[in-house]
Amino acid sequence: MPCIQSNTSIEINDGFPQSGNTTRFSRFRYNLRVARLFPPVMTSAEKRTVRSFVRRTGRMTRSQRRALDALWPTYGLEFSTEPLDFTAVFGRDSRRVLEIGFGNGDSLVEQAARHRELDFIGVEVHWPGIGHCLIQAERAALDNLRVISHDAIDVLQQQIGEATLDRVNLYFPDPWPKKRHHKRRILQPGFLGLLASRLAPGGSLHIATDWAPYAEHIDGILDSSPAFELAERRAHGGDQPLDRPTTKFERRGLGKGHQIVDWRLVRI
Ligand SMILES: C[S@@+](CC[C@H](N)C(=O)[O-])C[C@H]1O[C@@H](n2cnc3c(N)ncnc32)[C@H](O)[C@@H]1O
Repeated sequence: MPCIQSNTSIEINDGFPQSGNTTRFSRFRYNLRVARLFPPVMTSAEKRTVRSFVRRTGRMTRSQRRALDALWPTYGLEFSTEPLDFTAVFGRDSRRVLEIGFGNGDSLVEQAARHRELDFIGVEVHWPGIGHCLIQAERAALDNLRVISHDAIDVLQQQIGEATLDRVNLYFPDPWPKKRHHKRRILQPGFLGLLASRLAPGGSLHIATDWAPYAEHIDGILDSSPAFELAERRAHGGDQPLDRPTTKFERRGLGKGHQIVDWRLVRI
């Protein structure tokens, strides 16, 4: 039981990292560039006293609790301040997708089942959702998925090495609609810089929201980011998700008549 408490030469076809990635930068020049452009520090407004979530106790079903007991040793990774050795974790050296705030994990499991050639790491803080995700992962007999239950910002800062990810998914992050809570929105300029430093050149960042004022906020942040090139922005009625399955929160937003916006960005 877990302890509860561009210059890119990459080809992107279906939005998932393709094989044979090459980059024109040497590792050394790349690291220098990253360090100069995107120092992985948060601005004072984004200091870690402000979290993008409130840990809800939530109701955990018996099957979720059983799944956490039985399946955490298979799928769970404890948070650590040491960078992850992905090759050791997955027993292979494959391309990696990180999903932040996967909720109940249905769409994460669907992607991992569809792309068994890729390795997926999901980060979520809501235990009932993690329990649900583990049940689905076992049903799909996945061996290319691991989950971490911790604040994704700490995970990115401390547990994910620089330029080690090929794709990051941030689907329907909490919109924090009240003005006094806007500082809790996970998408801030410093966070985008952190994501940039963890993505390999040519890697992609996929974002979606159903909350129009958050979409505006995101557009503003993306406009001023030197790290990413906007590959696609799609506003739709839930019928054209960009390289992803429909998610639980998306369905909820659609039920309220919200429009969906998807972005795909490429790490320069
Ligand atoms: C609105 S829900 C969306 C869930 C899912 N992506 C979907 O579309 O159904 C946002 C999720 O992000 C999680 N979350 C928020 N901030 C987080 C953080 N800093 N680290 C990890 N998970 C976070 C929340 O617990 C919540 O489950």
